[in-house]
Amino acid sequence: MKVDGKSMRSIWLEPDGWAVGVIDQTALPHRLQIARLTTLAEAAHAIRAMVIRGAPLIGATAAYGVALAVREDASDEALERAYVTLFATRPTAINLKWALDEMIAALRNRPRAERQAAAYRRAAEICEQDIAINTGIGRSGLPLIEAVAARKKPGDRVNVLTHCNAGWLATVDVGTATAPIYMAHDQGIAIHVFADETRPRNQGASLTAWELGQHGVPHTLIADNTGGHLMQHGMVDLVIVGTDCVTANGDVCNKIGTYLKALAARDNNVPFYVALPGPTIDFSIADGVAEIPIEERGADEVATMTGRTADGRIETVRIAPAGTPVANYGFDVTPARLVTGLITERGVIAASRAALAGAFPERAGAAK
Ligand code: MRU
Repeated sequence: MKVDGKSMRSIWLEPDGWAVGVIDQTALPHRLQIARLTTLAEAAHAIRAMVIRGAPLIGATAAYGVALAVREDASDEALERAYVTLFATRPTAINLKWALDEMIAALRNRPRAERQAAAYRRAAEICEQDIAINTGIGRSGLPLIEAVAARKKPGDRVNVLTHCNAGWLATVDVGTATAPIYMAHDQGIAIHVFADETRPRNQGASLTAWELGQHGVPHTLIADNTGGHLMQHGMVDLVIVGTDCVTANGDVCNKIGTYLKALAARDNNVPFYVALPGPTIDFSIADGVAEIPIEERGADEVATMTGRTADGRIETVRIAPAGTPVANYGFDVTPARLVTGLITERGVIAASRAALAGAFPERAGAAK
């Protein structure tokens, strides 16, 4: 996508051909800052500290993390160490495990001398595949937006509500939930996005609002508690969110607060869609509420806020009494029954076991 008019991805291979460049998402929206990853430890840190985040980008960064590890040491033991280190960084996004398994499958049976080149090759393929998948999600989702637009009075906009950041910053490029939105906008459909701020880390405010603004998509930032009110007043035509894991049954795990949006959508007959790339399906589990590991993060994310002061300094301030006990669950699960449809690169499908297995038979079969 474009940043200040120039094409940019969220991750790339540096001109030296081995180090990995990423956009440091902790600095946005105030500064466009690049981080250079040169070791397994730096890649693991980037994922853990959320320098990069978003399920598909976590997977892509882990893939390059394995390549960086193999560059240092191509032994079986080093490969195992890389897997364990990267797998431990964040627990919920299944794309992490998917990408690590892909890397191991590509490297395990190769002679050591070939492993480094093969690792960089497979990591690059995973990145290209992510973009192709997201473009497919865009194509699948566009007709949903076109259908709403066709019912609108002249001059009225299609209003989409989204949560967290499932935009290009959460992927290698294009985004998942944003793919149909960018496509509709680029085709001249009048579209407007309500972006949930997404406490506690505010990815909607700092990332979604930033990237929509860079691309020129009209949008409005809202506090997390606003969605239900908007839906009651007919101000949302459809909800499109991303996901970090979808179970074989179609339960959807996404950023904390997604479930509440799905409940409000159901109560107000607003369609609730989930943009789902194939690698985000975990066919080995069925019940999302019982089986998906939910990340719990530090208290400071809830008890403090970080932002830019009027004179340009980045400051963190405490908003709760010192020592207040805090719970900080990163994700929640929306049961399949609340999901209108899954927008995948293979079409829009029901959130059901039969539809998922029918659309992704090779993944469903491999999990048996
Ligand atoms: O904690 P984050 O910022 O990694 O969570 C991101 C989300 O929840 C996104 O909506 C999800 O990863 C889908 S990304 C296309």
